[in-house]
Amino acid sequence: MKRIAVLTSGGDSPAMNAAIRAVVRTGIEKGLKVYGVHRGYNGLISGEIFEMDKHSVSDIIQRGGTILRTARSEEFKTPEGRQKALNVIKVLKIDGIIVIGGDGSFHGADLLSDLGVPTIGIPGTIDNDLAYTDYTVGFDTALNTAIDAINKIRDTSSSHERVSVIEVMGRNCGDLAIYSGIAGGAEYVVVPEKPFTVEDICENIFNGKRSGKLHNIIILAEGVGGAQKLARKIEEITSIETRATVLGYIQRGGSPSASDRILASRMGNKAVEVLLEGKSARVIGIKNNKIIDMDIKEALAIPKVFDEELFDLSISLSN
Ligand code: F6P
Repeated sequence: MKRIAVLTSGGDSPAMNAAIRAVVRTGIEKGLKVYGVHRGYNGLISGEIFEMDKHSVSDIIQRGGTILRTARSEEFKTPEGRQKALNVIKVLKIDGIIVIGGDGSFHGADLLSDLGVPTIGIPGTIDNDLAYTDYTVGFDTALNTAIDAINKIRDTSSSHERVSVIEVMGRNCGDLAIYSGIAGGAEYVVVPEKPFTVEDICENIFNGKRSGKLHNIIILAEGVGGAQKLARKIEEITSIETRATVLGYIQRGGSPSASDRILASRMGNKAVEVLLEGKSARVIGIKNNKIIDMDIKEALAIPKVFDEELFDLSISLSN
């Protein structure tokens, strides 16, 4: 193993840059040449691949986004696209690739391994929807961004004695919503994994009113969606003014939290070590605060188990 490449793919997440930095610096430290691929798998197909030195990753640990840029590559999903990427990899004599991204990017990494290219995945997504790892890079920062927004909405919500429906991202996973609900002191959390009725939410709002609550914060997961519609329905039933806020892409950006920077640094370092051990088709994760590696197919096959305890806690503490 002499030359490795790193790319970021799919939706970006805070601390992807910290992971790139760890890959580049660990690789160089171990005597490898490290290359950065621009625009995810698209750059692998078009050969947008540049050597990176230690200095090229200076001053990025605190920056959100990804200096390598990212894309959701349609072409790489085709066998022809992957063959083009393979040709580029051979011509440039790349011996291994580290892919930072979510489950879609991991499927791509798996297909690349099947073509004989040693590939390792680092979980970079704000969704925390990969079951094999306790946390993904970027989740903690997105959560803190959501909390900051919830605190602000709570201020105006209290002044006006309103109900606020706040939609957070997370695709089909309710983690960002549940964690935001607990840390943001929300009155109710609506997630795709748990059936709910508007009547349940309204009952909770009435109980809150009776016990003197000035505001009601309802966290709604993107996987359920329809924040405006839910707000209208709540207002109709309770006759309390209700506003909806969709937090959107602010959750994807911003300077990463210390926790995400450390997680990304540990995972980036481990990914290079795993490549040097001669392994392929592995993903890096964290379990009980230990950095682990696991077979990609095995990892992707693990179903995400809904954390009932955490959900119950979010509800019980809201009363
Ligand atoms: O996977 C991260 C994420 O932000 C999801 O929470 C969201 O559903 C999706 O990406 C949005 O994707 P796009 O950037 O393509 O709009």
